[in-house]
Amino acid sequence: MENYVRIFDTTLRDGEQSPGATMTSAEKLEVARALARLGVDVMEAGFPAASPDDLEAVRRIAIEVGNTTDGTQPPVICGLARTTTNDIDKAWEGVRLAARPRIHTFIATSDIHLQYKLKMSRETVLERVKKMVCYARSLCEDVEFSPEDAGRSDPDYLYQVLEAAIRCGATTLNIPDTVGYTMPDEFRGLIAGILRNTPGIENCIVSVHCHNDLGMATANTLAGIQAGARQAEVTINGIGERAGNTALEEVVMALHTRRPVFGLSTGIDTTQIMRVSKLVSNYTGIAVQPNKAVVGANAFAHEAGIHQDGMLKHNLTYEIMRPEAVGVSQSQLVLGKHSGRHALKARLQVLGYVFEEPELDKVFERFKVLADKKKTITDGDLEALISDELYQPREIFALDGLQVACGTMGLPTATVRLRDPQGKLRIQAAVGTGPVDATYKAMDAIIQAENSLQEFVIHAVNEGIDALGEVTVRIAGKVGPKVMDAQKETERPHTFGGYGADTDIVVASAKAYLAALNKLLAATGQYGPAETSAVQPIKEALPHNPG
Ligand code: KIV
Ligand code: ZN
Repeated sequence: MENYVRIFDTTLRDGEQSPGATMTSAEKLEVARALARLGVDVMEAGFPAASPDDLEAVRRIAIEVGNTTDGTQPPVICGLARTTTNDIDKAWEGVRLAARPRIHTFIATSDIHLQYKLKMSRETVLERVKKMVCYARSLCEDVEFSPEDAGRSDPDYLYQVLEAAIRCGATTLNIPDTVGYTMPDEFRGLIAGILRNTPGIENCIVSVHCHNDLGMATANTLAGIQAGARQAEVTINGIGERAGNTALEEVVMALHTRRPVFGLSTGIDTTQIMRVSKLVSNYTGIAVQPNKAVVGANAFAHEAGIHQDGMLKHNLTYEIMRPEAVGVSQSQLVLGKHSGRHALKARLQVLGYVFEEPELDKVFERFKVLADKKKTITDGDLEALISDELYQPREIFALDGLQVACGTMGLPTATVRLRDPQGKLRIQAAVGTGPVDATYKAMDAIIQAENSLQEFVIHAVNEGIDALGEVTVRIAGKVGPKVMDAQKETERPHTFGGYGADTDIVVASAKAYLAALNKLLAATGQYGPAETSAVQPIKEALPHNPG
């Protein structure tokens, strides 16, 4: 059996499908580019039948990320479809301009889903699988089929369905534990049983797709791989429905760190992991828990005195992975007030950011302002500045000034000055339960975009009283588009994430909220196209792939 495990990233589909993780098309494109740099083999770019916007986002990714001009092989770009001709047509329309397109079609096979969700018999589902996999295959050479809720399906029925899908031309068979129900031994047994009992499976790739409801997603994925699966479906930071999907970084680093146990490799450039993790967190507004494996802020912090003592003697005492291996820089004293543009550019290059004008100018300007307030600028500070300056949505309203009064005497009050889309300055004061609440109320009074705050997370980039504060917020719009869930076939409000960084945490909070509000406003379409200026127009000059 080959010893290469394909990494199928579904951050932009299953991750984005989770409540609160929606991204704009421009953000999806940026994440897709980052995933390609990370080295994923396949990226599921979305569910094109959900809406024209989703289709367009997948199409852009197929064209811009699914093709290369330097002779390197681009990732496979995949679109999800239920087993209907409409969904499959939309998925094909989304991915067909990629050099390596894939259609991924699915239908549930567990009796619970058949009885209560699909209201279909086993025979009808089997017939649907045959018809729709054949149809998908008539459009695209690379077809993946998933029996949804395989973890709770009758294995004998599963073998029958998978055999039918293989006969109709499916090239990858993905086995989802949709509700995160199985235990590692059971899941290993399920995959081994499928490999033993499904005629024709030896010519296909078996894939695993696990959810984390009982905290078993990574363990189950690795168990499936040990049983012979050679594709793992994962998301960055493990984002996804409910408790999430299997985290890419956990599977990749487990295979990497315990190579003698698994004897398997992936094509992932592990040094990109931290950067992509941050990007996804900033765009979705879903903060990474500090103790999250591999990418949490504390994953490489050794604070307890006894640990530090051990670390000083030898880092292998408490460290099983080198921080550099996932792109965490250990350098602390980096730059200061007197560092020039060249020093900044060189340091950014070491961190993997290649900036030219005008981006470099913007980062340098912010760097100088920060260096005036803070004696030493660390790599963490630089990454926060880059996120705050460059990964921002199109500014519809801009923050022009903020003043707060708070403390134990008097009411917390904020005065906010925003520049509106016509360039006019608008000033509003408000009182609140604290300075952030007052600031948000003043902004709401000016912008008037009804929403509810779903998440507000604040943390310091590093130690010290002068540390830069990072704020991540997520809001749900009461107006604007709805998001369609591929599996539950329901709609829910669009949510928008915002990120801000500043040495003043109220300013960072204001920036984060304004970023989320600007995305909400853009999505309503009232202020022109819902795109940031980062997105280039698409030229359809690429050759069509043969059906
Ligand atoms: O969890 C699941 O079953 C899925 C399928 C659509 C593959 O996401
Ligand atoms: Zn899933």
